[in-house]
Amino acid sequence: MGGLMRIAVDGPSGAGKSTIAKAVAEKLGIDYVDTGAMYRAIGYKMKREGIEADDIGRLEKMLASTDIDFVKGDIILDGEVVSDKIRTPEMSEAASVCSALPQVREKLVDIQRDMGAKKSVIMDGRDIGNNVLKDAEHKFFLTASAEERAGRRYKELKARGEDVSFDQVLNDIQERDHRDSTRKLNPLRKAEDALEIDSTGLSIDEVTEMILKEIR
Ligand code: DC
Repeated sequence: MGGLMRIAVDGPSGAGKSTIAKAVAEKLGIDYVDTGAMYRAIGYKMKREGIEADDIGRLEKMLASTDIDFVKGDIILDGEVVSDKIRTPEMSEAASVCSALPQVREKLVDIQRDMGAKKSVIMDGRDIGNNVLKDAEHKFFLTASAEERAGRRYKELKARGEDVSFDQVLNDIQERDHRDSTRKLNPLRKAEDALEIDSTGLSIDEVTEMILKEIR
């Protein structure tokens, strides 16, 4: 497909996907698409409007009138910047729950494929390499131990002034890992042709370099 480059980055929560994908995007001068942020935005809207996961009627109506886009790295929900609002433990949970709903996945995967069809992108998520961008030129699967991932998330949340304990963060991560990898629809799974990188003990820069080297 005429010179476009698509890079898929999948892996569990806290493996460093977004930081690394952002760095790679900058180096290559291509767009970064954070698909997790899209699930978070839908989770946020469901919470705000009080829509339960089993209320399919209201969910479908809401989805049909929902607009999601990225502008300069910010996620825009119906014209409103929600980048900060979606980065809380409550929204992590809401995103994980709504990401199991077929109606939600169908809508977001459509938008994601559209984004990947028009321009070169690096996209991170859970089902990019084996579903959204199956024919991506480059695929990576980033992992790290649950403890290491919880440690990174914990630092991030603390830095933002959230009142959390390490054990709580570790527990949340393990619960989400379980839910994300056992759900029926497009569970977290490494694509056969993805290169697996275990980032435990590696720095962001080291992993970014490994990925850039592989691409070049
Ligand atoms: O990467 P993240 O933590 O921001 O993702 C939020 C939730 O969305 C997470 O529980 C998994 C889900 N998700 C998904 O199911 N598919 C994607 N492509 C991206 C995220």
